[in-house]
Amino acid sequence: MKRRLPDKQKRLYAKITGRREVAHQRAGLEALTRRLKLEGAVMVEVGSYTGESAEIFAKSGSFRKIYCVDPWSRTPTEAESLFDKRTKPYPEILKLKGRSVAASRQFSNASVDFVYIDADHRYSAVKADILAWLPKVKPGGWIGGHDYRWRFKGVIRAVDEELGLPLRVFQDSSWLVKVPKL
Ligand SMILES: C[S@@+](CC[C@H](N)C(=O)[O-])C[C@H]1O[C@@H](n2cnc3c(N)ncnc32)[C@H](O)[C@@H]1O
Repeated sequence: MKRRLPDKQKRLYAKITGRREVAHQRAGLEALTRRLKLEGAVMVEVGSYTGESAEIFAKSGSFRKIYCVDPWSRTPTEAESLFDKRTKPYPEILKLKGRSVAASRQFSNASVDFVYIDADHRYSAVKADILAWLPKVKPGGWIGGHDYRWRFKGVIRAVDEELGLPLRVFQDSSWLVKVPKL
């Protein structure tokens, strides 16, 4: 018979697991930003939720501008206010409230050093995001995203079809592809 954990233990377990996941994500994204070898760069994050990854990018010191695109329309109400609170100390983080493909039209082609996609994880959505944002990346720049793993088969399929196998997949399942120089 399965033993039920008392609520207090369950809360403690969730807290520890959550902390481990955050540490995992941080280590993966830190390794990714080191790999980019960028300074004073412009990046776009597509899908920002509560701003955890945006804060990690800001703390890397590699970016002078970090545009964060998210409609915050289907997220719990606290997600957007948490994003605002968390990103307030970082003037380089610029909030763009809206959907990915529409927001991409605000950017000129070849104007961004790095795009990180972590929005709708369904195959057609990831494909649409890649197609919308790839032309915005400078030749020799980078495109990447989150959740290149079996649980999100649509992510793997869209990335492989549109960009080929990633150059690297990091410990938090972030993927990275270098955009060829002209
Ligand atoms: C997995 S969360 C992002 C997590 C965040 N990158 C982090 O690690 O802290 C996914 C986010 O994508 C956003 N999203 C969903 N569809 C989107 C779309 N079409 N355009 C932009 N963002 C979208 C959701 O509102 C949600 O906040």
